[in-house]
Parts: sequence; structure tokens; C-alpha cells
Amino acid sequence: MIAFERTAQCRHLSHASSNEVAALHARCFDHPWSAKEFEGLLASTGIYGLGLYLGAGLIGLSLIRAILDEAEILTIGIDPAHRHQGMGAHLLKASESLVSGLGTRRFFLEVSVRNDGALRLYQSSGWQSEGLRKAYYRDGSDARVLSKLL
Ligand SMILES: CC(C)(COP(=O)(O)OP(=O)(O)OC[C@H]1O[C@@H](n2cnc3c(N)ncnc32)[C@H](O)[C@@H]1OP(=O)(O)O)[C@@H](O)C(=O)NCCC(=O)NCCS
Repeated sequence: MIAFERTAQCRHLSHASSNEVAALHARCFDHPWSAKEFEGLLASTGIYGLGLYLGAGLIGLSLIRAILDEAEILTIGIDPAHRHQGMGAHLLKASESLVSGLGTRRFFLEVSVRNDGALRLYQSSGWQSEGLRKAYYRDGSDARVLSKLL
């Protein structure tokens, strides 16, 4: 028997992939963004999308806004069927490398204080707390602002 090892690979997302990206976003979030929103964002200056692919299948997405020497993760997610295998950490690292190459010095993101899994991922990846935004999310939860110096 021949064993095939499939490794996940990061590729830039274009606005042409917005339907696929929106479908994955809907598997990751309770309040997903539409394909039209992704199409507009991915065609915008200063917005960068990274897709994590396993073979031809999109299993992770990260959307980033970069301005001058700062950047922000707008959204990041891994398909529920592929979590807890290091894919999130891999995509986060690829996102950091991407913005580092653009000249970013400080990278930001916001995460719900109720999102234990994501908080643990960011903490183990060296992100630091900058403070809270009170009642930031629709469910009334606070957002923790995190940053990482690159
Ligand atoms: C957050 C998310 C991207 C993590 O993806 P993932 O592929 O499961 O993450 P990894 O497998 O790389 O895990 C990285 C670390 O986080 C931990 N972790 C990930 N999800 C976890 C969970 N739900 N509960 C507890 N720990 C979790 C892992 O144990 C691992 O820690 P360790 O390496 O120190 O042991 C994924 O759960 C997701 O898409 N969630 C829904 C969307 C979301 O909340 N995005 C973040 C918004 S800010």
C-alpha cells in the first residue's frame, strides 16, 4: 500500500475565492461574513488574505489589514474538522511572516474573553494583552486586545 502524507500549505487568497472563503467562515463563526463582503475586502488595498489548504481543500483562513508599520488580524479560523492539530498555530505563524515581510512592527487582534481556545493559541504563540474593549461583541462579551512585536 502506498501512503500519501498530506501537508497543509498557505496560499494568498484572491477575491475570486470569496464564495469558498465565505463558506469556510460560516463553518467557523456564528455570525459569518458574506461572499460579497469577502469579495470587497480581498480586492481592497492593504487587505491580505491567507488560505490554508489541505490538498485542494480550504481548511483555514486569515484576513489581515496592514497600514504602515502596524497590522491587524480581522478574522482567522480553522475548519472545525481540522482543529487541535496545530493548523491554527501554523496559520497564525504564516500570518505573522506575511506582515513581517510588509514591514509591520506591531501586530494586533481582538478576541472574546469567552474564547478560551483562541486565547490559549495566542498566548502560546507569544501574543501579549493590551487591555479590554467592554461589551464589544453581539453576545455582550468583552474583547481582549492582544499584540505581538515582530
Ligand atoms: C481558534 C482556532 C483558530 C484554533 O485553531 P486550531 O487549529 O484548533 O489550533 P491549534 O491546533 O494550532 O492549537 C494551538 C493551541 O491552542 C490550543 N487550543 C486550540 N483550540 C482550543 C480549544 N478549543 N480549547 C482549548 N485549547 C485549544 C491547543 O491545545 C494548542 O495549545 P498548545 O499547542 O499550547 O497545546 C480554532 O479553534 C477556530 O477556528 N475557532 C473558531 C474561530 C475563532 O474563534 N477564531 C479566533 C477569533 S479571534
